[in-house]
Amino acid sequence: MRTLLHIDASVRKATNPNPDHNSISKRIAMQFVDKWRSAKSTDNYIYRDIGINPPAFIDQDWIGAVFTPDDRKSSEQREKLALSDQLFGELFQADVILISSPMYNYGMPAPLKAWFDQVMRINKTFSFDLSRGDHPIEPILSGKTFILVTSCGEFGFGPGGEREHMNHLGPHVKTLGRYLGVESFYEITSEYQEFGDERHQKSVANALKNAGLLATDLASKE
Ligand SMILES: Cc1cc2nc3c(=O)[nH]c(=O)nc-3n(C[C@H](O)[C@H](O)[C@H](O)COP(=O)(O)O)c2cc1C
Repeated sequence: MRTLLHIDASVRKATNPNPDHNSISKRIAMQFVDKWRSAKSTDNYIYRDIGINPPAFIDQDWIGAVFTPDDRKSSEQREKLALSDQLFGELFQADVILISSPMYNYGMPAPLKAWFDQVMRINKTFSFDLSRGDHPIEPILSGKTFILVTSCGEFGFGPGGEREHMNHLGPHVKTLGRYLGVESFYEITSEYQEFGDERHQKSVANALKNAGLLATDLASKE
């Protein structure tokens, strides 16, 4: 049995009284989940909507707690790390990580960055060893599959596109994924939301189709 961890990061809800306000990235991620679950109904599924319920930002006390050895942590420090421990536990269990995210200001939304800051834990997610020379950081986790679903208002953020150099969402998440133990990375994107034209309709339809196909394909692999 595999565990699918599904994180939605848009501050928009999946369904609203006015459907024009519905989150596109959440809709595409849900398409993946629907197909995945119809193929693998017995699998373990963990869901968080961090756009609606954002994780706390880390602070100086959080860093202090992380760097205090477990047997010397105070009860306040344990309490400080409770959310991080919980989010890390969900990540640890996950074989497949599905994150849906809007592009905000050419990068990831603050709640998603807050989630990454909470789960990136020294001696849990990654190890740090200066004997490795100039590359002291190595992931501890391994074998995870990552699907990033994104939606953006403009277009041309992909390889060779006219705004590729402005895309700080996909490349950033991919860089971080390595430190979550990700070994297979897939990205599904929807573009042109701000234009609301035929290109947008096509882009959403294509993303929905690809999400379904990828879910069916990945679910068939054991
Ligand atoms: C605060 C904010 C910032 C945005 N910044 C960008 C941007 O930098 N580039 C872009 O192409 N679209 C940008 N957009 C458009 C969103 O990426 C687009 O509406 C996307 O569909 C949002 O995802 P969602 O539909 O899942 O909520 C921004 C939208 C908002 C609300």
